Amino acid sequence: MEDALQEIRARALSDIAAAGDLHTLETLRVGLVGRSGSVSVIGEQMKTVPKEQRPLFGKLLNDTRNSISAALEARQAQLVARCDAQAVSSIDITLPARLHPDPGALHPVTQMQDRVIQILRRLGFAMADGPDIDDEWHCFDALNTPADHPARNETDTYYLPDGQLLRTHTSTVQIRTMEKQPPPVRVICPGAAYRRDEVDATHLNQFNQIEGLYVAENVSLANLKGTLEYFLRELLGANTEIRFRPHFFPFTEPSFEVDAKLPGTNRWLELAGCGMVDPAVFEAINQRRGDNAFDPERVTGYAFGFGIDRLTMILTGTTDIRMLVENDLRYLQQFRQ
Ligand code: PHE
Repeated sequence: MEDALQEIRARALSDIAAAGDLHTLETLRVGLVGRSGSVSVIGEQMKTVPKEQRPLFGKLLNDTRNSISAALEARQAQLVARCDAQAVSSIDITLPARLHPDPGALHPVTQMQDRVIQILRRLGFAMADGPDIDDEWHCFDALNTPADHPARNETDTYYLPDGQLLRTHTSTVQIRTMEKQPPPVRVICPGAAYRRDEVDATHLNQFNQIEGLYVAENVSLANLKGTLEYFLRELLGANTEIRFRPHFFPFTEPSFEVDAKLPGTNRWLELAGCGMVDPAVFEAINQRRGDNAFDPERVTGYAFGFGIDRLTMILTGTTDIRMLVENDLRYLQQFRQ
């Protein structure tokens, strides 16, 4: 039996050394040390060995199994390394890299949004966010817009079957921010808004706005005016003329529309709506929050909303708003940066 083991070992070691691939090696492993492999079969003959010879036989059996297992492992490592080397040898790392043929560019509206954000961030505004699909409370009720207001009409607003709606302005984010966070609040929110408008050269039914809100103690109309004047002169040029025209929004009082006249032109362009946050909005927020964090006797605030598409059109000389969404490369490529 000793001889049989010696022979198995010698054979096994030479077979393992000669195995040329992992599959052959696995077959050898099963045939040698697998459950009915030759080493295991000899092990079963232990019962027939006289008692006094068993320790010696047991040791020999173990040694044989161990040396075969070690040889299998070593050979496997060699074969795996060889496979890996073969796989990468076909890659020529000296070839020039294949550059992406066209890495693309930011859309002019995105570029404009980034510029606007950059200026307002310098003034201390933080970024806020809210959902495009919202409910009537956030879009209208909390913004002091009564149920019979024309904006709430089905002909103006996209309602979903479950009663939710596509927000008609980013002013919903004023509400969502104040619900979550007590004053002082100073945020901006760029985003999409939706209205059931007839699409033409100056209207899309999905467009982009940027909302601003600042609520704290002692925020005044002078602060609003100074902020928007600074913002527009940074964006449009230091000699831009700016005027505030009285207007009406349900959620601000007083309210204004902001116009600008570019240097060297003489047409006033309507760019934004703004005003001082109406105390009724603070009351709605307090009620929802269940506290008096936005006490109208203690805090005041201003809000504004710009149309980003309109700013983009003015600054790029685009005369038809539909160009912004048609994905015509002849148009878009002019604004690559
Ligand atoms: N939400 C208004 C609009 O879409 C703009 C606005 C925002 C007005 C904030 C006042 C204050 O027309």
